[in-house]
Amino acid sequence: MLDVENIKDYKLFNADCFCKMKEIPDSSIDLILCDPPYNLANYSTGNMNFSWRAEINNDVAKWDEKVLEPAELVNEFKRVIKPNGNIFIFTSYNLIGKYHDAFDSEFDTFQFMVWHKTNPIPNIRKSSFLNSCELIVCLWNKGHTWNFTKQNEMHNFIESPICMGSERLKEPKHPTQKPVKILEHIINIASNKGDMVLDMFMGVGSTGVAALNLERRFIGIELDKEYYNASVKRLAGINQPISVEREIQYAY
Ligand SMILES: C[S@@+](CC[C@H](N)C(=O)[O-])C[C@H]1O[C@@H](n2cnc3c(N)ncnc32)[C@H](O)[C@@H]1O
Repeated sequence: MLDVENIKDYKLFNADCFCKMKEIPDSSIDLILCDPPYNLANYSTGNMNFSWRAEINNDVAKWDEKVLEPAELVNEFKRVIKPNGNIFIFTSYNLIGKYHDAFDSEFDTFQFMVWHKTNPIPNIRKSSFLNSCELIVCLWNKGHTWNFTKQNEMHNFIESPICMGSERLKEPKHPTQKPVKILEHIINIASNKGDMVLDMFMGVGSTGVAALNLERRFIGIELDKEYYNASVKRLAGINQPISVEREIQYAY
């Protein structure tokens, strides 16, 4: 079992979270903030090519091709989260019903947030809405940590551009790198300094960056070696002591 209490700053694992999570003790995590695959592979029409401009990336990442069933997450999430903990899960429209079916009966509260992306991919053909919103499932039980600020700062709606500029990693590029600003907003509301934040689908470590910026501790798990290595580098760049453990346990 991981000695979570004694992790002073953070630990990162290159592993399959379905295996690695089993090593996390019961009721040891204050906040799960994660961004699992979206099961969008069936909806992709591939990259869009145009004669008059560069192609638009609409391709599906390899990691999204394996179907993730929200129900597969319930037991481990319930087991590791503290009674006063919170859970936030980024997802897409096609899975929100499945998350509701799997999680609503298991927690006192099931809510959702909307992240409005102010710079979504344009719709060149002008044939539909822009895909400018992403959903975030929010779960907790009575007595959960909640740092309510002003009424007008507690809307379940947040706006920000998608991750870009110097924040966006160039090598490797992660197609769904989340902006640290959004993650910090959630971490501020739903945890306190010194708390342990877990992201078991950490990609290039954005949740870890936000957690360390706000003086929380962090456990990150990522299956892909390249993304994992990028997270190691990225978190080492934050002014915190490093204690990284590497473990490969591919399950598929
Ligand atoms: C939506 S992305 C997360 C992106 C992340 N929020 C960021 O800002 O970089 C989902 C990630 O989960 C990883 N993943 C998929 N299945 C996994 C598994 N079983 N265990 C650990 N990581 C997994 C993928 O490789 C991918 O990087």
